[in-house]
Amino acid sequence: MSDEPLVLGVETSCDETGVGIVRGETLLADAVASSVDEHARFGGVVPEVASRAHLEAMVPTIARACRDAGVALTDLDAIAVTSGPGLAGALLVGVAAAKALAVGLDIPIYGVNHLASHVAVDIVEHGPLPEPTMALLVSGGHSSLLLVSDVTHDVRPLGATIDDAAGEAFDKVARVLGLPFPGGPHIDRAAREGNAIAIDFPRGLTSGKDMTRHRYDFSFSGLKTAVSRWVQLREQSGESVVVADVAASFQEAVVDVLTRKAVLACREQGVEDLLIGGGVAANSRLRSMAQERCDAAGIRLRVPRPGLCTDNGAMVAALGAQMVLRGRTPSLLDLPTDSSMPVTQVQS
Ligand code: KG4
Ligand code: ZN
Repeated sequence: MSDEPLVLGVETSCDETGVGIVRGETLLADAVASSVDEHARFGGVVPEVASRAHLEAMVPTIARACRDAGVALTDLDAIAVTSGPGLAGALLVGVAAAKALAVGLDIPIYGVNHLASHVAVDIVEHGPLPEPTMALLVSGGHSSLLLVSDVTHDVRPLGATIDDAAGEAFDKVARVLGLPFPGGPHIDRAAREGNAIAIDFPRGLTSGKDMTRHRYDFSFSGLKTAVSRWVQLREQSGESVVVADVAASFQEAVVDVLTRKAVLACREQGVEDLLIGGGVAANSRLRSMAQERCDAAGIRLRVPRPGLCTDNGAMVAALGAQMVLRGRTPSLLDLPTDSSMPVTQVQS
């Protein structure tokens, strides 16, 4: 028997019910049930629908993760669960389930931050995190640059979006282009056939003054409006809109700013390792441009495989296992959920 901790992680902050199992720094299972299809016709995640879907998926997803990992619940050493940030009702379902497991099995529980989990997941893919690591987190709800000195308790925000998150911009622009929700993967696919320099869309917060006040911050709302207006003007004048070109040019603008600021932050803070996580890290152009720019700047790049970038339970289990390995005190059994949990608070 291994003496590394066997940790089960539960993730329900948005529309994915994720249950992952990690032993030490080894991933054993990553079971995910998504309610994304139930939200598609609304063009966005409906919180009440997500909560109900979590409730229905929870027990079967836990059972599937145990089966995949070849372990029994009674083998577990600890439970980890996303306690925030996220949708309030959705978080409650996961935290209630995790508390029930912890009480029933008489093992410790760790309520952990969703964003730190997006960072920690790369440990099970690429090994221990260099300290410090610069993390660019880009998802449907967040776009942040984080200086991570210790993923279990020292995560410092350097910058964040001042309006829309990067994934939100992908989803909104996809809607303008008549592509299904969630739009990110569809824009990614359409852009492969398009010309990324066909339209010169704006790069938010990169002008001289903005680089003083918002050096590491992002803004995607102006870009989204620019794409909308461009499409509208074309349609009004009866000209055709080449979806692939708009998708590629929009994607290029987002990816250009994200990678430019992430590399700048690494250089200026003297950090040699950049990690990209969150759903948008699955974007093929973001991955290729980040690799080019990191190579040119002598920065090592780590990006988890796409399945570990989008929300999942493995990331929560990975962070939970780090908590155990580093001897962090478990959370109390009455740990709260916090839908707007700050990124600096790794544990509840
Ligand atoms: O991390 P995630 O699964 O959930 C949140 O915590 O938000 O991220 C979901 C977001 C969505 O906005 C989705 O459109 C975007 O990630 N996304 C992508 C790609 N795959 C997912 N955006 C761009 N390109 C992709 N390939
Ligand atoms: Zn996420």
